[in-house]
Amino acid sequence: MNRDGNTTSFWQSTTNPGNPQNTKENSSKHFDTIIVGAGITGITLAKELQNRGQKCLILEKENIGFGTTGGTTAHINNFFDSSYDEVISDFGESRAKTLASAAKETIKYIKSNIIKYHISCEYNECSSFLFSAEEKQNNQLEKIFDAHEKVGIETVKVHSIPFSLPFENAIEIKGQAQFHPLRYINKLIKEFEKEGGIILTETQVTGFENKDGKVKVSTKDDLNFSSDNIVWATHIPPGNNRFSVLLAPYRSYALTAKLENPVAQMAQAADLYDPYHYVRYHKSNDDYYIIVGGFDHMTGDEEDTEKHFTDLVAYADEHFKYKNIEAKWSSQYYVPADGLAYIGQMPGENNIYISTGYNGNGMTFGSMASLIIPDLMEGKTTPLSDLLSPGRIKPMASARNVLSEVFNATTHFVKDKFSAEKIKDLDTLIVGEGKVIKHDGETIAAYRDLKSKLHLLSPVCPHTGCNVVWNPSEITWDCPCHGSRFSIDGGLLNGPALSDLKKIDQE
Ligand code: FES
Repeated sequence: MNRDGNTTSFWQSTTNPGNPQNTKENSSKHFDTIIVGAGITGITLAKELQNRGQKCLILEKENIGFGTTGGTTAHINNFFDSSYDEVISDFGESRAKTLASAAKETIKYIKSNIIKYHISCEYNECSSFLFSAEEKQNNQLEKIFDAHEKVGIETVKVHSIPFSLPFENAIEIKGQAQFHPLRYINKLIKEFEKEGGIILTETQVTGFENKDGKVKVSTKDDLNFSSDNIVWATHIPPGNNRFSVLLAPYRSYALTAKLENPVAQMAQAADLYDPYHYVRYHKSNDDYYIIVGGFDHMTGDEEDTEKHFTDLVAYADEHFKYKNIEAKWSSQYYVPADGLAYIGQMPGENNIYISTGYNGNGMTFGSMASLIIPDLMEGKTTPLSDLLSPGRIKPMASARNVLSEVFNATTHFVKDKFSAEKIKDLDTLIVGEGKVIKHDGETIAAYRDLKSKLHLLSPVCPHTGCNVVWNPSEITWDCPCHGSRFSIDGGLLNGPALSDLKKIDQE
């Protein structure tokens, strides 16, 4: 497995995993900055900090791009899931302009990396088309259009879109981009290592201490490091902190299909449903593809995850002519309480940094972290770092969402404790089935694999004790409370948990 699930993303299937040098025996134990997580956030940031003279270590529990960067659809946008009219309403016009300007800078920054390091990653610049699919969505589209004018995002009204999707009204948002995310980060890592940077993959951080301005980190295989700063590029930072309630984990579904004919114009599009459908073209060598995504749900909230793939394929069948589906996969993202990412210093901890809560805009926000965190480490704050500060307080904007997400986590905490199905005999579990069951008075997360072997685990998530839920598409145990995910043998795939699910002795 080189991604956090059973499905294989298009990016995984079209590139080899990055192959770092893994110098575990390296004698140097102290670094300026330790970055945990080798996705787009961690890798881009490590390279940026290195360019500014820092000695950095990246620690990655699995392999490069194992998490969401391997499962993104790799849109690079200067607009976000929280639309600018919402940002203006919640944060004010001036701050919305700050965000818009930073988003444009971020696209330029990604492009400058591609040029500087000669990265061949199928990058192209294009427009994105946003459309109302029903009359009742026209007003929402109009508000978005007006807000784009206010904050300076180049947008025009159009009468046609380069996708065979029915629509009422549409706008074209210029200046967007897209790429192959794993090719991008794999090359950045090579450049990082070439300049003396160290990345250790398959190295799980199991403990850390922040004392007297120094961070001490220990790993599962008993390595110990220290640093002046640490950056958690792992979505929800570990431990039981405010980000467990300020972020809600979601899953999105995507497929890539090879098109019968070349397309005249590379482009992206999305409708205004909730959850919205999103599409984009991709060109690799001489082949053209359509990438289709959507049908999102909160992690652990759906038993029949396969239905989401069925619906996705039905949507693609209805609207596009393609030769064959090359890849289908799902991926996790985190919705922030007030709609904007949290990038900067961990509240109350001067030398701990986080970057998370990207919603469906991980490529942009993940790269934007490199425009914020290095400056903060050098003592510089900016209007952007203030806006995205993890310590910000936005009571009105936050309250409505936070309460519903906390309610969802609490509901799961209570409901899932009592929902285990009582069974007399484990033999009733059929091949390929996973269930939380009660057996002999014990609650068990049980899975019978394709060779009929049983895998029995405690369902209690080591983060804060919710029960995990079976995900039949990814063959994983997913925690509905804060999104930790585990393999069939209990191995940790996604935090914020720091340890595995406990195995149950089959005897
Ligand atoms: Fe928090 Fe499982 S992720 S309880």
